[in-house]
Amino acid sequence: MRILRIDGGHRLAGETRVGCAKNATLPILAAALLADDPVTILKAPDIADVEIMRDILKMLGCETVRLGDGVMVDPTGLKDSALPDQLAKKLRSSVFLLGPMLGKLRRATVTYPGGCDIGLRPIDLHLKGLESLGVRISEEGGLIVCDGSAMHGGVVHFDYPSVGATENVMMAAVLTPGRTVIHNAAREPEILDLQRFINEMGGNVSGGGLQTIVIDGVKRLRGAAYRPMPDRIVAGTLLAAAAITGGEITVLDAMASDMMAIISKLREMGCRIQESDGRIDLIAPRRLRAFKHLETQPYPGFPTDMQAQMLALATVAEGSSVILEKVFENRFTHVPDFTRMGADILVNDRVAVIRGVSRLHGARVTSRDLRGGAALVLAGLAAQGITDVEQVALIDRGYERLEEQLSGLGARITRLEA
Ligand code: UD1
Repeated sequence: MRILRIDGGHRLAGETRVGCAKNATLPILAAALLADDPVTILKAPDIADVEIMRDILKMLGCETVRLGDGVMVDPTGLKDSALPDQLAKKLRSSVFLLGPMLGKLRRATVTYPGGCDIGLRPIDLHLKGLESLGVRISEEGGLIVCDGSAMHGGVVHFDYPSVGATENVMMAAVLTPGRTVIHNAAREPEILDLQRFINEMGGNVSGGGLQTIVIDGVKRLRGAAYRPMPDRIVAGTLLAAAAITGGEITVLDAMASDMMAIISKLREMGCRIQESDGRIDLIAPRRLRAFKHLETQPYPGFPTDMQAQMLALATVAEGSSVILEKVFENRFTHVPDFTRMGADILVNDRVAVIRGVSRLHGARVTSRDLRGGAALVLAGLAAQGITDVEQVALIDRGYERLEEQLSGLGARITRLEA
């Protein structure tokens, strides 16, 4: 078992860089299936979720190799339309392979997908969206079988702006004859990034980042080399790490304009921040102020993927903070671990009330999901004494050697094989 051991109480300072976004790279890897030639993802992050997605692509018949810090995907061998069960269960994002498989092969079979255990995570919106494009869906022995032989452009209206469902329909529609219009689409910056990648391959998608997306089907897509956008959640986590230690850091390569909800909350907590695209400077106060109220929402609202990290900050801030988790129904599983470290938190359903304490103390704690695990690391950085964070594999799903990045900023953190 791997553990991150943190000797807390050391102020972070210095300069660091963020890599490409997990949540942009995963759909882009899936969209690579649509091309007729090899595709290269430049600076693909070296994280577990990307490796699982590559393993799935290989099992579908694609070739993929790491070339330096890029990943090449050659989709010309794509033959299988059934997602491998074991791997798909490990990665919820595998559900948006449905769209490209249907686009390319006109058929796809999948079991219910897996991923972080942060709620029910149904896929009804994905399926409804695909049905609007003429896909016939049936359930056979626990498998979802999609027949796309009569696919056509269509109008999709989402009841809720799901990120994955929006991406899925975009990818299904690219090679489908006619025009597809998605209403109430998710507006996350990663959607715009996917649009850029698809258009780089010769697709015709517009409106990414807005509520209505229009896709005009094209006959074929060519290969491309593409660098995904920076990871706004990793950048936010690094800023939060500096904030919780009273530190002073510069995060390079971050797109501040995609992160305004996070930056504005950190300012509310007393951090001084100068931001431009490509560079964010943060100076934290000696003690953070409570943020009073934080509600997670689809973009441009506050991202649910930064909720746990902000909760970590609130545990040591002056005053009381309230968090309302509106995107996922089970995203406070890390709270008992914070309590073990001396935090004062009350949870009722989707609401957490956090009364800031003057100091946390080190403890042995366990990651329950990717962002919750990262939040426990932040708490460990601020705590007095030693914190051991177990289940590092969950953190490795979305952070590239987080301990090395934090050590470079002055944190005392090491990875142990226990
Ligand atoms: C993506 C991100 C994830 C982030 C989330 C919300 C990737 C790889 N993952 O996940 O990190 O936390 O957006 O910003 O990009 N829902 C349904 N039915 C569906 C689909 C979703 O009810 O068919 C619900 C979910 O249960 C959840 C909410 O909609 O409550 C948001 O989910 P969604 O936007 O789809 O998130 P993901 O694409 O899974």
